Amino acid sequence: MSGAIVNISVLVSGGGSNLQAIMDGVASGAIQGARVALVLSSKPGVCALERAENAGIDTAIVSAKDYPAEAERTAVILNRLAAANTDMIVLAGYMSVLPAEIVRAYRGRIINIHPSLIPKHCGKGYYGERVHRSVLDAGDKESGATVHFVDEGVDTGEIILQRKVPVFPDDTVETLASRVLKTEHEIIVLAVAICVNKCD
Ligand code: GRF
Repeated sequence: MSGAIVNISVLVSGGGSNLQAIMDGVASGAIQGARVALVLSSKPGVCALERAENAGIDTAIVSAKDYPAEAERTAVILNRLAAANTDMIVLAGYMSVLPAEIVRAYRGRIINIHPSLIPKHCGKGYYGERVHRSVLDAGDKESGATVHFVDEGVDTGEIILQRKVPVFPDDTVETLASRVLKTEHEIIVLAVAICVNKCD
């Protein structure tokens, strides 16, 4: 694939602000030698799909509601990824665990962003507001964001980048989440740029 443009497929389930950071990073040149080829959502009607459509990027919706059998759902996702000539996958707020078959097909080329300092506040059940609630309940003085490779576990793959943010005594889940999210937008762009170089 040397010298070719790296096709990134971004998997989403919600707001898509990390997707937006990636698309902006490609547009600004912070991410070079890559394009977002596909945005695949596990849910219909989410803002992430609107962001992709506004940018003229192909979209797909592969939901558990439409494909309740995991094997079929996995096959449909794999087909969509292949049709987009996917070289690299970014899980950006994707709220489903990626099936092992997909991990095997793209091993070393899938990254995920998690809104805590892994290995703290991560793993099964730690998603969305629950992560920040857990940080506040633990009385941690700092939190942050982590980008890591995806393996067959939940938030267990090798860490690529991690950045800390402070936790303030008057923080709520909302204020902490918003501080962490800003950091996510910075490190996801850096991490994608690093991985594109490795893929190329
Ligand atoms: C982010 O905090 C991400 O780390 C988490 O879900 C949130 C998604 O945000 N997994 P967005 O959809 O990128 O705006």
